[in-house]
Amino acid sequence: MKNAYKLLAPRPIVLITTVDRKGRINAAPMSWVTPVESEPPIVAFSTSYESDTYRNICETEEFVLNLVPESIKKQMYLCSKSLPRGVNELETAGLKWESSDVVKPPHVVECPVNLECKLDWMHKGPEYVVIAGKVVSAHASKDAIKKGMLDPEVVKPLLHVSGKTFVVGGRTTSL
Ligand SMILES: Cc1cc2nc3c(=O)[nH]c(=O)nc-3n(C[C@H](O)[C@H](O)[C@H](O)COP(=O)(O)O)c2cc1C
Repeated sequence: MKNAYKLLAPRPIVLITTVDRKGRINAAPMSWVTPVESEPPIVAFSTSYESDTYRNICETEEFVLNLVPESIKKQMYLCSKSLPRGVNELETAGLKWESSDVVKPPHVVECPVNLECKLDWMHKGPEYVVIAGKVVSAHASKDAIKKGMLDPEVVKPLLHVSGKTFVVGGRTTSL
């Protein structure tokens, strides 16, 4: 039963960028992630109390969700390694970053979508905490959007099945 979550797959992967109170950048891939409201726009993800992501959000109350394309799968995976607090995983993995519009955590340049969030609420479970943020600025690269929607054929979002197994989202079908 503890593996039931693996049946809710494949799920989009985001690199979550945060900063600690000293402004040091952290990045971690997460796939337990979902929108929860559209107006106001709220997105949420689930993480452990041990993660630097959780600790940083407790300190600075901001984060950015960066959608992971297939093209950076190796770099994304490198960012999941547990590194000492304060070490910038983006640098270690060879990814680029740039300033956000509103919040302190940066955009990941290689990611076609960046959602800047301010902490809205947390729900504390026994081992994991659901962290919800209000989107205060949303950025998508020009070719990532078609007819007002994400174009998966261009973006090729990396979707998580489990462990090191992924699906590449690229084929659309419509009703
Ligand atoms: C594809 C992928 C998806 C992941 N999804 C999650 C997740 O949703 N929640 C979580 O807590 N950890 C998840 N992890 C593990 C974290 O990325 C890992 O524990 C990381 O070291 C946490 O980094 P941090 O301590 O810098 O926050 C995932 C790892 C990978 C490779």
